[in-house]
Amino acid sequence: MAGIERIVILTGAGISAESGIDTFRSAGGLWEQHRVEDVATPEGFARNPDLVLGFYDMRREALAKVEPNPAHRALARLEAEFPGELLLVTQNVDDLHERGGSKQVLHMHGELKSALCSSCGVRMPHDGPMLDRPKCPTCAMPSLRPDVVWFGEMPYQMERIYKALAVSDLFVSIGTSGAVYPAAGFVQEARAAGAETLELNLEPSEGSHFFAESRHGPAGELVPQWAEEVLQTRL
Ligand code: OAD
Repeated sequence: MAGIERIVILTGAGISAESGIDTFRSAGGLWEQHRVEDVATPEGFARNPDLVLGFYDMRREALAKVEPNPAHRALARLEAEFPGELLLVTQNVDDLHERGGSKQVLHMHGELKSALCSSCGVRMPHDGPMLDRPKCPTCAMPSLRPDVVWFGEMPYQMERIYKALAVSDLFVSIGTSGAVYPAAGFVQEARAAGAETLELNLEPSEGSHFFAESRHGPAGELVPQWAEEVLQTRL
């Protein structure tokens, strides 16, 4: 760990699992309860907007019933105390990193509490339902959609993420199955840059073999332990 100056962290649904948010690909997970094609593609939205708006309204409302867990808080502590550069990238659309204390979070797949206007393209914080078709505050059209990245759409801020990976000394992937690109490819970008690579996941992910080190267990235990190690090494 000595000599680590620039860390990129990628989180996925597994970091929020102990807070009570369903992951996508576990048994009984979100993609067993709902078809991806129906609720997470532009085509599904065009076919049945009420179904899609209702799905994200339900997930947004559910955020009020969950709290950040020790893994979210440990990353917030690391951000506050690590003297080098740290970029936290999440695939999650929940707000638990922010509520756990993280100040800078890059939501590459968008956010439940943000809206995107399909008419004028503006993005804005939004914390209410969308099924009732609220009007866009900018163009007044009733065309708000969830500001989440659907399959077939481009994730946010990829250039910034690749730049950070290219100069990273450590890449850490937490609670993600490694099933969805481009995020699943970050480990190889980091390796190409000469970075150390570490996976913290409940079980070996699809991409486990790309990591120099993998630790398996619940994020609520592994992440605070790892953050403590980083900070101790730096003291
Ligand atoms: P997945 O549901 O694919 O994977 C979650 C991972 O977290 C699995 O590898 C689990 O083993 C692990 N896990 C579960 N509980 C855990 C715990 N308590 N501690 C640590 N790990 C745990 O979720 P993601 O990888 O985040 O995209 O999915 C990636 C993307 O696919 C999502 O952002 C979403 C989805 O389709 C879009 O909707 C565009």
